[in-house]
Amino acid sequence: MRPRRHQAVKPRGALGVVMGWLLESGNALQNRATVDAMDPPPGAAVLEIGFGPGHALSMLAKTHPLGLVAGIDHSDLMVRTARRRLDGGRGDAALDLRLGDAGDLPFPDEKFDVVFAVNSFHQWPDRERALAEMAGVLKPGGDLLLSIRDFRSAGRFEPPGRGAETARAAADMLKALGLQVRLREIVHSPARATLLVRGRKCGRTEA
Ligand SMILES: C[S@@+](CC[C@H](N)C(=O)[O-])C[C@H]1O[C@@H](n2cnc3c(N)ncnc32)[C@H](O)[C@@H]1O
Repeated sequence: MRPRRHQAVKPRGALGVVMGWLLESGNALQNRATVDAMDPPPGAAVLEIGFGPGHALSMLAKTHPLGLVAGIDHSDLMVRTARRRLDGGRGDAALDLRLGDAGDLPFPDEKFDVVFAVNSFHQWPDRERALAEMAGVLKPGGDLLLSIRDFRSAGRFEPPGRGAETARAAADMLKALGLQVRLREIVHSPARATLLVRGRKCGRTEA
């Protein structure tokens, strides 16, 4: 695996600090579009998997009165970076950012109103397992949101259309878990779009 790619999957050390800055600027539009698409209820508990430098959680906490801002990332550097950022910038919400893996979430069932991931799902070794974990910690009626980037022309990171394939696969996995799935596309430029795959867990009365 090339070093740069490796750093994007698990930032570490001095190069990881640089990767954190690159993630911050390179994913800014995608993080903004993803947060704008969310509507957590007042006092909501939200969980992000693979939060990196914590940009999306920070934007969400600044624009919504949340009760709990939680996250899991397997990079110790990113956990420390995001904690520093959110320590003073989350309003009244409690903070619970942990080192851990997407495939093994250390939270009780049905704890969160919103569970999401931005530009991270494609990196997980066992995506089905991770989605099952995410659906498990989601409250009935809550939303699971995957934000997936899609390059429309030849780019440095992946072939055009790869994101669309990933999004379709994610939608199928969420349907298999019994979630109600909707797909949305946000076009940033002729070269780049964000694909939002939303799975809603049935509420208790609908079950
Ligand atoms: C490309 S970065 C995206 C970071 C941030 N969401 C953003 O959009 O700027 C992917 C992040 O997911 C984390 N990650 C990748 N695989 C993971 C896994 N299996 N479990 C937990 N975190 C993971 C990485 O450490 C990294 O912080």
